[in-house]
Amino acid sequence: MKEFATFSHIEDLDSESKYRIHKAKEATVHSYSPYSKFCVGSAIILEDGTVITGANQENASYPLCMCAERVTLYAVSAQFPGKRIMKMAVVAHKKNHKELTPASPCGACRQVLLESEQRQHRPIEVIMLGPEEKWIKCSSAHSLLPFGFDGKALE
Ligand code: THU
Repeated sequence: MKEFATFSHIEDLDSESKYRIHKAKEATVHSYSPYSKFCVGSAIILEDGTVITGANQENASYPLCMCAERVTLYAVSAQFPGKRIMKMAVVAHKKNHKELTPASPCGACRQVLLESEQRQHRPIEVIMLGPEEKWIKCSSAHSLLPFGFDGKALE
């Protein structure tokens, strides 16, 4: 698979990808984002098909805000240790707006995603909405964060 693939319409995606996006969209209901009013949801599919979702959680002390991706990744680690993560979807919309707006995992989330990928020695496919309403499928966390910090450096 190529590192990145783009799709102009959601209908061009396979049914599993559409389902994953749908679950991430549903998860935005639980976004707590009174400050940014930017509702982000993510969905992770495990090897056995289990779906784990998460949404961004903000705080009046702004630096404590947590992105949807990390909320979801940490939930998987804590609740399904050892289960392989196959795929992830990330979506966002502005408060009181139905239509999705582009959202790409921030650098911190890419680093956490990379560690999850390295722990399981298997790639994690990520799908997100990019600019110009194009869906972007990334074949791995590594493709999203080349030259990311590797814990092996600490050994
Ligand atoms: N946010 C995410 O949850 N994921 C992203 O990929 C980008 C940003 C959140 C963090 C904050 O709550 C709000 O969106 C605005 O940055």
